Amino acid sequence: MEKILVTSALPYANGPLHIGHVAGAYLPGDIYVRFQKLIGNDVLFICGTDEYGAPISIKAEAEGVTPRQLVDRYHTSIKESFQGLRIEFDNFSGTARPRHVEIAQQFFLNLLEKGYISQKTTEQWFDPRFERFLADRYVEGICPYCGAEGARGDQCDKCGKLIDALKLIEPRSKISGEIPVIRETTHWYLELPKFEHKLRQWLDTKKYWKDNVLNFILGWLDEGLIERAITRDIDWGVPVPLDNAHGKVLYVWFDAPIGYISSTMEWAERQGQPDKWKDYWLNEKTRLIHFLGKDNIPFHTIIWPSMLMEQKDPFVLPDDVPANEYLNLEGQKMSTSRNWTLWVNDFLQYFDGDLLRYVLAANAPETKDSDFSWKDFQARVNNELNNILGNLANRTFLFARNHFSGKISKPGELREISRKTLSEADNILIQLEESYSGYQVRKATKLFMDLARLGNKYFDETRPWVTIKDNKQEALETLYVCTELLRIISITGFPVIPHSMLKLRKMMSLDCAFNWEDIHHPQNEFLLSDIEPLFSKIDDKAIDYQIELLEKRANINQVTLQHKEHIDFDTFSKLEIRIVRIIRAEKVERSNKLLKLKIDLGGEIRTVVAGIAKSYREDELVGRKVVMVMNLTPRVVMGIKSEAMILAAHYDDELSILVPDNDVPEGSEIS
Ligand code: 2FM
Ligand code: ZN
Repeated sequence: MEKILVTSALPYANGPLHIGHVAGAYLPGDIYVRFQKLIGNDVLFICGTDEYGAPISIKAEAEGVTPRQLVDRYHTSIKESFQGLRIEFDNFSGTARPRHVEIAQQFFLNLLEKGYISQKTTEQWFDPRFERFLADRYVEGICPYCGAEGARGDQCDKCGKLIDALKLIEPRSKISGEIPVIRETTHWYLELPKFEHKLRQWLDTKKYWKDNVLNFILGWLDEGLIERAITRDIDWGVPVPLDNAHGKVLYVWFDAPIGYISSTMEWAERQGQPDKWKDYWLNEKTRLIHFLGKDNIPFHTIIWPSMLMEQKDPFVLPDDVPANEYLNLEGQKMSTSRNWTLWVNDFLQYFDGDLLRYVLAANAPETKDSDFSWKDFQARVNNELNNILGNLANRTFLFARNHFSGKISKPGELREISRKTLSEADNILIQLEESYSGYQVRKATKLFMDLARLGNKYFDETRPWVTIKDNKQEALETLYVCTELLRIISITGFPVIPHSMLKLRKMMSLDCAFNWEDIHHPQNEFLLSDIEPLFSKIDDKAIDYQIELLEKRANINQVTLQHKEHIDFDTFSKLEIRIVRIIRAEKVERSNKLLKLKIDLGGEIRTVVAGIAKSYREDELVGRKVVMVMNLTPRVVMGIKSEAMILAAHYDDELSILVPDNDVPEGSEIS
């Protein structure tokens, strides 16, 4: 039994989870872990949120909340998205927890003591208006390597290179938008050149890594390693544990990977065996595997192994770093700032998590960027999950229920065609094992679907609807072989679509606890129960709706808001805004936009003319409590005196009236 420690890159707790993250780091990790657990290895799957540093503090400042509040909110949201997608970590922690801080500081001190960290005074960008040093993402400009605009002070998203912020062309402060100035500051540096020899020796043993990963690292090494600052002048991070480092924190990329260790420690504690983390991290037999997206490659293959190499404890080094390329959306690069993305929590409001797992796995960005489109999603769900796998289960089970009361026994001797089919399945199984072990999620997904294709072909060729008439035994044999294939699929498809495969097993009355080895133990008898369709088709309307939603959301983000000039509070408080109840609503003659409303303010009745007829019917409004401004000077509209104004949000040509969150009495004032 192998010991395997699997991690997926810690997501920043500065936003919800989107499908790009899932395709790159989490789903491939979860699929691999599920497979390894099925074959009986001792596997631990570790993750948590990345909670410190500029990515968090910038977002918190923008939202006007504390970093802690931001982190708590997104930790919960991200965790819920993982649950909905059935991505199951053995532990999901967060880096702003006390244990993590302690371990990260210890890592720093050990490297300092061994002479791998040095202190230097250098120049850095400084925002003169806000009187702050501009760490990492606080400064943006043009990438000195590829010329892309919007490159951040730490890394360029376009070419993936780590950037020395001082080399950014046309730098701008993110907080003030102004041109920063250069000031001196003191920082601690990780002396990467000192690790070069050891790193090269270690990387020489990694010829089996994916080409995209190896090429990236070798490119880096050949350019020559340079010292990297691992501290920052911001106040949200792990404090540098030195007396002369007041106000300095560790760079988020120094502390983040240590989160893999602190999360494992948290897991061990939850097991009631606080030292058990050492069985994995301090064990040279452990295979440490990091799943991540390509932008995380340099940190995990150069900086992180260097940090691990020179600790006091003998930490295991990464055995493999199966990094993935990017996932695009509808042919365009995903962008959270343009809102061109699909958030997992939005997806889960409409569809089951297994459907996304299947489509992202079938189309995984393993060797090159791939694309998610809603039409492709629909086609894969309908034509593959439904018409191939769902169809095999459905036709087999319904036939068995109608002709054999749902009882399918193993025949004595199998016919040639049945033996041939099962031996073709054996061939597919060999390839399936290789694909799952080799992180080839796309191929594995195609292969377990091939088992269902094989089943359908066999069903068609053996024609049980004909044989049932004069050779019932032959018909039963067809059903047995197809159900055996479905049993094998319920195991081999489990890493990709776990929930659906458990549902399938339940229909065949098979145990929910099973392992890979069970594939080779045919059932003597199947008893079918509670048969229902495995999947259902997605219609065009549902997909068109998603496409529209995506485009609408992206547009709303692109609009530059036209702000009005400031008013003081006294001016605002002159407005009289109240909750009112609509007691009557009717169309205004000769107008298709206007409704005449009678409203009750708690005894006082008024008449209002509101331009909401295109968005609301009269009967939708009567009885509802809404928000109105009461003290605008009355106006006469189409001959009717309007004595208040309804408040509504405008979007495109639609209106959405404002309503109170709780049932408050008519007349309640709003301030
Ligand atoms: O790129 C990211 O989203 C980082 N938060 C990944 C960190 S991975 C690890 F080192 F923690
Ligand atoms: Zn670049």
